[in-house]
Amino acid sequence: MADNLEGLKIPEHVAIIMDGNGRWAKKRLMPRNFGHKQGGKVVEQICRDAYDLGIKYLTVYAFSTENWSRPQSEVDTLMDLLREYMSTCMENSQKNNMRVRVIGDKSKLDEDLQQKIAALEEASKDYTGLNFQVALNYGGRDEIAVKKVAENYKNGEFTLDQLNPELFEEYLDTKGIPDPELVIRTSGEKRLSNFLLWQVAYSEFYYPEVLWPDFNKKELIKAIEQFNKRERRFGGV
Ligand code: IPE
Ligand code: IPE
Ligand code: MG
Repeated sequence: MADNLEGLKIPEHVAIIMDGNGRWAKKRLMPRNFGHKQGGKVVEQICRDAYDLGIKYLTVYAFSTENWSRPQSEVDTLMDLLREYMSTCMENSQKNNMRVRVIGDKSKLDEDLQQKIAALEEASKDYTGLNFQVALNYGGRDEIAVKKVAENYKNGEFTLDQLNPELFEEYLDTKGIPDPELVIRTSGEKRLSNFLLWQVAYSEFYYPEVLWPDFNKKELIKAIEQFNKRERRFGGV
């Protein structure tokens, strides 16, 4: 059945905090990693659905700078799943004309994963379909830490007078990517957990109860419908 999107404004950029994998597995008396596996499959489908609905940028939070504090066995599984995911993503990006970028501190990832990511980013850089960002070892505070800006200032790239929010954004991982209009966090939790701190200054937030492995196109449309009910004022009246 065709989706009824008539009259709906489709956000250009949707960002998703994919939460609830562990609880989804627990409900089924399965280990947490089972939830992560299922969650990975949902990401692939949602990329297609998002593009189908007319979304141009999709960013998903896959692993935070704080997630290293989970038990080693869970971290290892997540990294293995991400490895696997980068390989399927290589095929999918080609098939679906999808550009993939990984945001976050990649230097802390295993060398082989870094290489996979670099290859995927390079191979997909000219694709003109969905712009898909995976936040991996990502933390908003880590991204904003001003070392890079200070270094460039020291090297004479700009003067203090020139430094303003627009210039500052050039030094973020999301350089060139518009801010998300809509942020979805599944599983009912209502917090940001260090996701895109700078970029969400004027985003709309939506917190459905659905756990990430159960998220689907219908849920995405519901989120867009909610977004359409919001009155965005940007400080005006
Ligand atoms: C989100 O699901 C996936 C990652 C953080 C990698 P969780 O693993 O946080 O699932 P819950 O919140 O424990 O249910
Ligand atoms: C946020 O979820 C990180 C990702 C979805 C990758 P968490 O489950 O790690 O966040 P907290 O610990 O509940 O804040
Ligand atoms: Mg969680």
